[in-house]
Amino acid sequence: MSDFSQLVPEHVRHLGLYTPGKSRRQAQQETGVEAIKLASNENPFGPSPKAIEAMRAVLSEAYLYPDNEVSELRRKLAEFHAIGIENVVPAAGSTALLGVIARTLLSPGLNAITSERSFIIYPIAAQAAGGGIKQIPMRDDSFDLDAILAAVDRHTRLVFLSNPNNPTGTIRTASLVDDFLKKLPHHVTAVLDEAYYDFAEHFSRLRGVDYSHAVDSVRQGRKVVVLRTFSKVHGLAGLRVGYGIGPAELMSYVARMRTTFSVSGVAQAAAVAALTDRPHVEKTLANNAGEAARLIEAMAGLGYRVAPTWANFLYCELEEDAAKVANHMQQEGVIIRPLAPWGAPTAIRVTIGTPQQNDLFLKVFKKVLRPADR
Ligand SMILES: Cc1ncc(COP(=O)(O)O)c(C=O)c1O
Repeated sequence: MSDFSQLVPEHVRHLGLYTPGKSRRQAQQETGVEAIKLASNENPFGPSPKAIEAMRAVLSEAYLYPDNEVSELRRKLAEFHAIGIENVVPAAGSTALLGVIARTLLSPGLNAITSERSFIIYPIAAQAAGGGIKQIPMRDDSFDLDAILAAVDRHTRLVFLSNPNNPTGTIRTASLVDDFLKKLPHHVTAVLDEAYYDFAEHFSRLRGVDYSHAVDSVRQGRKVVVLRTFSKVHGLAGLRVGYGIGPAELMSYVARMRTTFSVSGVAQAAAVAALTDRPHVEKTLANNAGEAARLIEAMAGLGYRVAPTWANFLYCELEEDAAKVANHMQQEGVIIRPLAPWGAPTAIRVTIGTPQQNDLFLKVFKKVLRPADR
């Protein structure tokens, strides 16, 4: 009989397990109630219709191995971002890239830095690579960039910055990030995770704020990897496609560390088509901005403060046990995310849905939290 606790390395034994948002099927099995899912920041309008068409066209080729170089998508992304093809590496979601980047730059004795209450994959990716992780307390529900700089030591190789941040929905503006990058010592690479880029960019136009120059930083030769994904505004979370844009030399190592054939042919075709589907993106962004304002106002009317979001979800402090509230809401057919795993046991994260989904969310939210007001 083998005892794997003796065989598996210590850093693997101590790894945390990622708990995703509950699926509709799972919630429905638990409660017997039909549910809407507002728990994983997916696109409520589904995939880009152009992507669906492109996927259908290549389904019969699914018996063939995909193009391991992901050539067409890389070429289109390089054109789209006006950057060299050697700067772009696609993978099976930005989650996969986080793991690959961590394994490329970390090993035992080295460390990465991120913030508390940020994307849960950052500590998992660093620790799975055998590295350490420092999670710095937040300032104003956002990354404390000065404190992160102060935490850099000679063993630090990576900083993970979620901009906008999941789950708080906050950003650090372009000028603050540029300033931070200028101060970052040369042995540290910044991963600027812009999974919610399009939402933030849309809000920044409405609010007159300069949100991000992340790709410019790569063009200027800084030690920066920008992460983007097809999971959010393009509605392709289930297909698993994301990409990194970074220095060519670093990306050549990242490409070698990436799992071979990890982006399926169907996913490649869908992503190429989704990239040009501006109407789907615009519809998603307009709905998101309008519905964010409506939800925040309605929740404020019930006495709850919601930070103005820069993404497609809301972070709300309830000042009561959020897991209980989420459970209760699930019984009523609405799946949201309680944030105890992020160290915020009295807060929830709610994905902004279609107007109909948000109406149901508000109705159930009121029923569960303010039963007397009904
Ligand atoms: C900050 C952040 N980065 C990355 C991702 C994951 O994206 P992908 O689906 O491309 O792995 C998410 C998903 O929720 C996210 O919130």
